Amino acid sequence: MENLEEKIVQADSLETLEKVRVELFGKKGFIATEFAKMKEVPGPKKKAYAEGLNKRKASLQRSFDARFKLLKAQEVERLLKREAIDVSLYGSQGQKGALHPVMETMDKIIDYFVALNFAVEQGPMVEDDFHNFEALNLPKYHPARDMQDTFYFNDASLLRTHTSPVQIRTMMERKPPIRMIAPGTVFRRDYDLTHTPMFHQVEGLVVDAKDKVSFANLKSILTDFLQYMFGEVEVRFRPSFFPFTEPSAEVDISCIFCEGEGCRVCSHTGWLEVLGCGIVDPNVFKSVGYEDVSGYAFGLGVERFAMLMHKIPDLRSLFEGDIRLLEQFR
Ligand code: PHE
Repeated sequence: MENLEEKIVQADSLETLEKVRVELFGKKGFIATEFAKMKEVPGPKKKAYAEGLNKRKASLQRSFDARFKLLKAQEVERLLKREAIDVSLYGSQGQKGALHPVMETMDKIIDYFVALNFAVEQGPMVEDDFHNFEALNLPKYHPARDMQDTFYFNDASLLRTHTSPVQIRTMMERKPPIRMIAPGTVFRRDYDLTHTPMFHQVEGLVVDAKDKVSFANLKSILTDFLQYMFGEVEVRFRPSFFPFTEPSAEVDISCIFCEGEGCRVCSHTGWLEVLGCGIVDPNVFKSVGYEDVSGYAFGLGVERFAMLMHKIPDLRSLFEGDIRLLEQFR
């Protein structure tokens, strides 16, 4: 009798306790067997026998319940411990992406002009002859078309060779005054150390009343912009030619590699050419129907800026998608 209680107390897991339960309370267990013996107990003693047995059963049941409760609590405790998450542990760090150096440079350029209240405009990459050339004072058979090696689809449509067509689209959609930049992808048949068939430009255009726009404005904003991009550099404007601006200039900064001493990158001139600009040619205004206005425009190659800022020797490496190269610009 004694060892039944002990069996319960000695069960050290819910599984063993379950075995004990079957032994005691199961169909063929101790209690059932004892009750079955009732029929052998003589009549007058039956009642006492049954009472004794019921008490015994109740007491065993109490011991069992107490043990079950304890083991169950221990089990829950164990589970909680095992499944606990230490939120202070370091996790495995996922790889962080980063902007491509060209896009990063583009963003930096855009930030400058947005801060000066320039609107950001866009146009299609597949352009037509009118927007890419004609309206920009580049009539058919004009020799200056050769400056831009164009990818043609057919006589009418082509891949834009510069972001200048966005000037035309914006002017035709809006009324002056206009103050815009147009960042975008452009295409030319060119492939060497410093040229890829696909590259990016940022165009700028300001149009306003004649007394409000001057070459001096253009000069001061571009000088400030280039010093924002490259630091304390000297800036010089060189007379040049673009069909859509007159007068036109190309803008150089003092070489950031040799500080003007002369090196391979600046072809021993001490200067690096970084953008083109000028006063909008009256023929351009004529083609978009603008009168009594003046304007200035500029255009730059984002890859060239990125190459200079990061001292990248071969432009083509930017487009090979080699993660080892890109990781250096994080
Ligand atoms: N569109 C010219 C180019 O691609 C750059 C430019 C833009 C020059 C605006 C002057 C004014 O070379």
